[in-house]
Amino acid sequence: MERIYLTTPLYYVNAEPHLGSAYTMIITDTLARYYRARGWETFYLTGTDEHGDKIAQAAAQAGMDPKVFTDEISTTFRAVWDSCGFTYDHFIRTTDEYHVRSVQQLLDKIHEAGDIYFDRYAGLYCFGCERFYTEKELAGGKCPDHLTEPTWLEEENYFFRMGKYQEPLLHHIEAHPDFIRPEGFKNEVVAMLREPIGDLCISRPKSRLTWGIEIPFDKRYVTYVWFDALINYVSALKYKAEEAFQKFWPEAQHFIGKDILKPHGVFWPTMLMAAGLPLYKHLNVHGFWTVEGQKMSKSLGNVISPLVMKEKIGMDAFRYFVLRESVFGQDADFREENLTARYNADLANNLGNLVSRVLAMEQKYFAGVVQPLSTAWAKEDLELKNRFRQAEEELKGHMAELQFHRALEAIWAAIDHTNRYVVQTAPFSLYKDAGKRGRVGEILHHLLEAVRTIGRLISPFLPETAEELEALLNIPRPTAKQPSSWGQFFVPGHKVRPPKVLFPRIETAPDG
Ligand code: MSP
Repeated sequence: MERIYLTTPLYYVNAEPHLGSAYTMIITDTLARYYRARGWETFYLTGTDEHGDKIAQAAAQAGMDPKVFTDEISTTFRAVWDSCGFTYDHFIRTTDEYHVRSVQQLLDKIHEAGDIYFDRYAGLYCFGCERFYTEKELAGGKCPDHLTEPTWLEEENYFFRMGKYQEPLLHHIEAHPDFIRPEGFKNEVVAMLREPIGDLCISRPKSRLTWGIEIPFDKRYVTYVWFDALINYVSALKYKAEEAFQKFWPEAQHFIGKDILKPHGVFWPTMLMAAGLPLYKHLNVHGFWTVEGQKMSKSLGNVISPLVMKEKIGMDAFRYFVLRESVFGQDADFREENLTARYNADLANNLGNLVSRVLAMEQKYFAGVVQPLSTAWAKEDLELKNRFRQAEEELKGHMAELQFHRALEAIWAAIDHTNRYVVQTAPFSLYKDAGKRGRVGEILHHLLEAVRTIGRLISPFLPETAEELEALLNIPRPTAKQPSSWGQFFVPGHKVRPPKVLFPRIETAPDG
């Protein structure tokens, strides 16, 4: 049986879910639905990252104990994802006991193997990033992310011998060119690995931070951030059972934004090597969303909330827009006017009108009752069926390549073709000729097949719409089994429902 293990980053609980985090969720949810529908065994993981200075500070600001604070926010996060309808299989929290244990076991293992050592370290530390910077990494003496001057810090800590795995990792990437995708990000990681990567500081003394996971071999210290959070990808499976780990780990595909490329592309695989575990299959890296050309930020007040979008245009339309508007791996810009244009053109007109038209004709001419097909199909009927077969083939390739915009393009090309078929076959004119009504019944039968197939193809992307189409066609959920072939699904006499507006048009102000 084919399998896939999909993961999102674990979200920090000091910010609300927004377009950036929702984007990774939409991508992974779409893939999970796509592969499940094909009968693959799928495990889809998300969760929250809850340790570290930033969270401890946010809790203190809220006047709360960090555990109570993270319980609350993690629950909110989960509730938002649930109301967006994301079908994750497991939600992990870095404060979950099994995860804490798993991190400690891994630390012990790597320590015993001699790849964790104790040393004095002095350097420039950015509290915002919770890490030390080298002079070279700073921009004009400041942290490039926070634009603040780092603090000189001197302390004794535990270090992971990351440098030891630099060469093996480079070899692995050379032998598996699609280990990190798209290629530009692989090249970035290769460039990092061509410079000395050094070792990684993995602890904080409890005198400075208590909100972390205690180092099992030295209770004066905690580990946090990467040596904690990254391990979730393994601990979530181990929590299910060793068998789940054996089954799914070889099929692991991580999805992340480009800002966390180094931890996932360098720290994580070297940690896995040190722990004697196999590496993940793919690291899939996406770009950043801006809003109307600007960085999304609380202070600019331009943060796009998935729940507000759901309220405004519906979750399916939001999913459609972000997947259709962006190219995986590249940055994208969220513009209200593009959203409205795509919504009206692709969803309200192309898809929505087609479905209404087909169901309205079926209702008007045959009281909703599906008519028989003759054995001899017209050329245009065959072309219509083949057009969908082609779309399905194209879809497969695009999904494997994470080209979601192309996958949607392929489906919409078949929808366009269907609209042209309606114009070409003109059932509304034929119906006026009583002798041609048999042919009208056939045309509508083919159109109902088209609507059914559209429902099946769009279901990973627009799951609610797919369900609405099934309800309108009065048919059950398709199973992962080989779908019934075109022309053999609807039994003549089956009754479909009257049309309904799926995507009400968004009225825009007239130009000028
Ligand atoms: N907690 C770490 C990840 C640990 S993974 C073991 C983290 N959390 S985060 O909440 O700051 O970011 C979560 C994800 O949101 C990251 O993949 C990040 O790239 C993504 N995004 C944050 N802002 C974004 C945009 N504006 N656009 C696209 N994705 C963005 O990092």
